[in-house]
Amino acid sequence: MITTKSIPKIKKLLGKSKRNRKIIGFVPTMGALHKGHLSLIDKAKKESNFLVVSIFINPLQFGPSEDFKKYPRNIKKDKKLLKKHGVNLLFYPQADKIYTPDFSTFVQEKEISKKLCGKSRPGHFQGVTTIVTKLFNIVEPDLSYFGQKDYQQALIIKKIVKDLNFAAKIKIAPIVREKDKLALSSRNAYLNKKERKESRAIYQALFQAKKMVKDKEKNPKKIIKEMKKIIEKKPTAKIDYIEIRKAKNLEKIRKIKGKIFIGVAVYFGKTRLIDNIIIQSKT
Ligand code: PAF
Repeated sequence: MITTKSIPKIKKLLGKSKRNRKIIGFVPTMGALHKGHLSLIDKAKKESNFLVVSIFINPLQFGPSEDFKKYPRNIKKDKKLLKKHGVNLLFYPQADKIYTPDFSTFVQEKEISKKLCGKSRPGHFQGVTTIVTKLFNIVEPDLSYFGQKDYQQALIIKKIVKDLNFAAKIKIAPIVREKDKLALSSRNAYLNKKERKESRAIYQALFQAKKMVKDKEKNPKKIIKEMKKIIEKKPTAKIDYIEIRKAKNLEKIRKIKGKIFIGVAVYFGKTRLIDNIIIQSKT
């Protein structure tokens, strides 16, 4: 595995791969790799023949009171995992090379970004779309992989790819879960024992929603009410949002119909967790 921090070097290397007609697969990450990332990497490895992973904890997507400083960092372990999973190139840039002191250009998607997590985390998606645009310009991938856990993020990336004519095809991979069904996330490491135990309520609520849709409940409000009941029973939980939306674009719906997104954001103590399921309702 080649590791580089240098933008000119990675451009040169990847230019060569392009000339050799390699299919460049790309998985952007913020490191602290877990099985969720590795499932994206394994999928990318199968579908491409030159696999690039980036590790960059992007300061632009963290709010002033968020966890940028304490975000888990473990480059040694990450590198080992990437080698083991057959990654060809690790791009591990320094922040001052990505955001030079005179940096003043931002990329903003203005529709899907305003909803759900966009409301709770102002500026977050602009940070994501700006870094992903930069990374796409540096790596010029043919295929790029994002996890369904960050479904809104994945939809927004798809939208900027369409609107800004990037060549990359975006692939969304399923959520990877712990044994007790908590979705894998680097932030799970912040949970104390009690919060970790109570965080199971997220999936229990999603499961309840799935069951109600299967039993032909058509009113999203009734489903959300039941989900709330399950989560609110947990003393360390504080709901940020529970939403049922059209899966295609996260538009509001009044009736369960077609392909729907059921998404949850909940604080356990100070840790904000998100999760979702996508269901195709029968009618
Ligand atoms: O999902 C993430 O880890 C980040 O938002 C991403 C896509 C790597 C951009 O920093």
